[in-house]
Amino acid sequence: MSLEPVFKGTIFQQLVASGTFSLTFETGVPRRYAKNLETYKVDYDSRGHSLSRIFVGREEEMKRIAMLLLQGSISDRKVCAVHGLGGIGKSQLVAQFAHRFRSTYTAIFWIDGATKDSYVRNLAKIAYRVVPDAPPIDETQPQKVFQLSDAVNSWLTKPANNRWLIIVDNVDRDSGGYQSTSSYYSLDTLLPGAPHGSILITTRDASLAKQFDYLELRAFQRNEDATALLAAMSGRDQGGNTAMLNHVLSGTKSWLC
Ligand SMILES: Nc1ncnc2c1ncn2[C@@H]1O[C@H](COP(=O)(O)OP(=O)(O)O)[C@@H](O)[C@H]1O
Ligand SMILES: [Mg+2]
Repeated sequence: MSLEPVFKGTIFQQLVASGTFSLTFETGVPRRYAKNLETYKVDYDSRGHSLSRIFVGREEEMKRIAMLLLQGSISDRKVCAVHGLGGIGKSQLVAQFAHRFRSTYTAIFWIDGATKDSYVRNLAKIAYRVVPDAPPIDETQPQKVFQLSDAVNSWLTKPANNRWLIIVDNVDRDSGGYQSTSSYYSLDTLLPGAPHGSILITTRDASLAKQFDYLELRAFQRNEDATALLAAMSGRDQGGNTAMLNHVLSGTKSWLC
């Protein structure tokens, strides 16, 4: 069977080549499917989530996400959650994952999952890119916004459109598991129900994460990572990153003292 190279030149391929992975991954797309995939190709657009210029460490976590989302057939439905404290680096990790593996997917979309409203609105905003003749979103008309989001869901559900990645960021709606909080919503009822597609969630809510394959993001455990972060940030304005520094370094206090 002839294969289209999918992972060529990616960190993933390097990991496989280096023997880091000894698992069976789908490493290509049969040529006969390639045309189908072309039909659903949406150019990668990193607007909506900013890639940090400094990104250090997290290779183990990156590998774990790759293992959870890319092992076996990529077109099977996979849901993976990244769980951890605010500021620990969840959003940045998944943004880096999306960027590194962008050629693996036909489409990658970033959805703010903070509330049900933001989820639906963000999904609706994708419509103009994938639904023919979709009208521009008018946020003052909730019913129309909902219809647009529904149209995007239908597009995601098409059987041949099976190689997309959706990132649902900040699903902290019931952090602590209290369903009575005003921002609570049931994520399950919103996620596309197709038997295909990959979904990557970030959340502070452990109980939500445990409903899926998940990884818990902790402070840097390796001194090399903490050193690299300090080195990368030295001399720069660290104002916006103070919380993150506190978190990432809390696992390494012993050697800093
Ligand atoms: N591995 C990393 N290397 C360097 N900076 C990072 C790393 N992870 C996160 N940051 C920075 O730390 C801050 C908080 O990260 P973020 O991903 O927003 O945390 P969370 O989503 O868990 O609240 C951001 O400014 C981000 O750019
Ligand atoms: Mg975040």
